[in-house]
Amino acid sequence: MTTIDVKPNPVRTSANRMKLGVFALNIDGGCTLTNAPERHRAADWAGSLEVARAADRAGFEMLLPVGRWRGYGGLSNPMGESFETYTWAAGLASVTDQIALFTTSHLPTVNPVFAAKQAVTIDHISNGRFGLNLICGWFEAEMRMFSGSMMEHDTRYDYADEWLDIVRKAWSEKETFTVDGKFFNATDVFAQPKPLNRPFLMNAGGSPRGKRFCAANCDAAFLILKYMDGPEAVRAQIRSYRDLAAEYGRDIQVWCYAYVVQKDTLAEAEDYLDYYVNRMGNDIACDNVTREIGIQSGMFASTEDALRSRFHFKAGFAGLPLVGTPDMIAQELNRYSDLGLDGVCLTWLDYKSGIADFVADVLPLMETSGLRAPFGGGRRLGVAEEVYA
Ligand SMILES: Cc1cc2nc3c(=O)[nH]c(=O)nc-3n(C[C@H](O)[C@H](O)[C@H](O)COP(=O)(O)O)c2cc1C
Repeated sequence: MTTIDVKPNPVRTSANRMKLGVFALNIDGGCTLTNAPERHRAADWAGSLEVARAADRAGFEMLLPVGRWRGYGGLSNPMGESFETYTWAAGLASVTDQIALFTTSHLPTVNPVFAAKQAVTIDHISNGRFGLNLICGWFEAEMRMFSGSMMEHDTRYDYADEWLDIVRKAWSEKETFTVDGKFFNATDVFAQPKPLNRPFLMNAGGSPRGKRFCAANCDAAFLILKYMDGPEAVRAQIRSYRDLAAEYGRDIQVWCYAYVVQKDTLAEAEDYLDYYVNRMGNDIACDNVTREIGIQSGMFASTEDALRSRFHFKAGFAGLPLVGTPDMIAQELNRYSDLGLDGVCLTWLDYKSGIADFVADVLPLMETSGLRAPFGGGRRLGVAEEVYA
């Protein structure tokens, strides 16, 4: 008989007060909208491996890709080249040891029976380190590539409810099952094997309907923090997800993503930011993104609200700015932990040098301040893993 060495999924079990991930390693430009030549290149697989392994070795909890099917235009066409996220996670699962591998799945692009099987495959390759970021689509040109149209906003979440119900059944039902739904008809669905650990579910809905979907179903909410509105707005934003989850009798982690510009002095960091955002920024791509996000999603109250974030969109897709010296960055992370944040996925202009500098200089400060336990293969376990019987 073969014994399987099931590992804990660190996103669920880590006791670190600020968990860490790497976001957008699978797409051109990462999260930046810039023409700067040193921007991340998706097709540099060797470079991506280097970054993924560095995160794994440093004890980061999550590798999270962006789900993207076309770029935003302008000279560098940010996100124009990207890798599909299930196969990306499967590839990285076999060359990493402890980090969780996520897919970011546009639910309207993939049949749930098929997706459940892909998820189980990654879960087994990684010995239980799989996570699924559920997204419904907002970029119309992209969604039209699959069905010629995009569903109306709230209908996308009705579809997501049905999609997820089928996936959960495929992961857990011992017998075959039949679906006669509004969106899916499936007869005698058979799905084996089952996942080793219950896959960790995440979602980034910001609209009232999206937040409800997230709170009712997911283990983590993934946010663009409203940091421009001040700390109390951030605290309230984070709390609103926890309160909503509590209505469903659930507990939920809250994560965001951040762009890191780390230098020896604040002046150097700000100059570098000015270089790649103002002098080399891709304004055409920024126009397209902010217009589309303002119109098609509930992430921002209006197109005007999205426009307010222009600088930050070019710097790191409106993620949290972590700009300055290692000490300043570590302090910011402490501050956001105090505001209720559980985890942050990091992005850089140049991921390879970025993660090396972060691990060398910021991570030790996070450990000294108690935000994270030192990682030496001996992770402190917090929450018990949930294993399917
Ligand atoms: C932190 C964060 C990350 C996201 N990542 C992606 C992504 O990788 N691909 C994508 O198409 N949409 C992504 N989105 C968009 C959301 O999936 C969602 O479509 C958007 O928030 C609109 O939903 P809503 O109207 O319920 O807010 C992201 C949103 C946020 C806030």
